[in-house]
Amino acid sequence: MKRIYLLLAFISVFAIAKIEKKNFLVIQDSVSELVQKKLQKHFIVQEFKNGHQVIEVNESNVLEISEVIHHTFHKCGGFYSFDSRTEASKYISDLSVPGKRVPYSEKRKNFLKQLDQKSKFKEIQSIVDEAKEINIREMIEKLSSYHNRFYQSQTGVDAAKFIAKKWKEITKNREDAEVTLYDHSWKQPSVILKIEGKSKEAIVIGGHLDSINGFTYQMSFGTKGGHAPGADDNASGIATITEIIRVFADSNIIPEKTIFFMGYAAEEVGLKGSKDIAADFTKSNSDYEIMTALQFDMTNFNGSDKKIFLIDDNTSKDLNDYLGSLIDRYVDVEWGRTSCGYACSDHASWNNAGVPAAFPFEAAKSKMNKHIHTSEDVLAQSNGVADHALNFAKLGLAYILDLNKKQ
Ligand code: BES
Ligand code: ZN
Repeated sequence: MKRIYLLLAFISVFAIAKIEKKNFLVIQDSVSELVQKKLQKHFIVQEFKNGHQVIEVNESNVLEISEVIHHTFHKCGGFYSFDSRTEASKYISDLSVPGKRVPYSEKRKNFLKQLDQKSKFKEIQSIVDEAKEINIREMIEKLSSYHNRFYQSQTGVDAAKFIAKKWKEITKNREDAEVTLYDHSWKQPSVILKIEGKSKEAIVIGGHLDSINGFTYQMSFGTKGGHAPGADDNASGIATITEIIRVFADSNIIPEKTIFFMGYAAEEVGLKGSKDIAADFTKSNSDYEIMTALQFDMTNFNGSDKKIFLIDDNTSKDLNDYLGSLIDRYVDVEWGRTSCGYACSDHASWNNAGVPAAFPFEAAKSKMNKHIHTSEDVLAQSNGVADHALNFAKLGLAYILDLNKKQ
């Protein structure tokens, strides 16, 4: 009998401990508000930062929050669950690049000042028009066929290797082209294609190659990760860059400045890949001096009236103005400006490291694709085509070719 009491006591202590176990969730501000309203519950907010907050919840709340987000709101931005406040705090801080920004050097500022000459060149237009929707579409389809491109999963590694193979293939006729896998402290590598120019000054065109399912990450899938086709976020950006590479490589132009095309690993977990790379490439003993960085992240969802939106925070105004003029001259679509509100993609890693960055985006922030970070981020959300992304490939080509007219 005594034994049974003991056992019951043990079980109830265990049950109470379990009930009282706290979880610390990092969740987007807007999602948190909606969830609390829907559940008619109030969660203690421990910290606000970078468009996200740390909320303290009971373990039993985690599932209901997940369900509300998944089934009711069906919107982007999941949450990340941690056992301790310290881990959650670290995660939310890592969402931003370090507070101190390296100012642009005088040399880079002068470079920006002489960019816009407003002339239009016929030969640039004819190369720009070589970019084709079908190529972008096929690359999006291929990349979104992986279970995910999660930074710690095998399929995330496979996808990165596929991109490296594809970039090698489309530059195989150029001796000045070299593709490398850039290793980090986690499984997935970044991919870098260098096209050597006449100078050690260089430009970067990049986008992240990873994807994430924000709802199931760390909850039930461990390092495998949930299903995350990431067709828009960010197979579209990588496919856009791939088409820029193909057309530029085929033009046989030897660039004045060296061009680095980059597919960054692990953006979705705090811009990790681009932070590593930006730090590496801006070291004082680096072989190349990066003058600008252009980011393509989400290019294929036509959510607004205008076609291209230039993100105006964590970017260079001069570079944005130049891109606006390039769109007018060579892409000939309507464009606007919008803000992210926080360091939302890899452009911020460069900009914070002192490299003027720009980030042309698919829609006004408020009209962006709401399916990102879910298993429904598929090409069908863009009617199965990549015509929206084609505008961005044209812009990227115009950018390389027009810059090539300047020293
Ligand atoms: N593609 C998004 C960034 C984005 C979202 C840009 C919405 C513009 C509008 C990117 O992959 C992403 O999800 N970023 C994270 C932040 C990062 C620091 C983990 C985000 O926005 O939550
Ligand atoms: Zn994302």
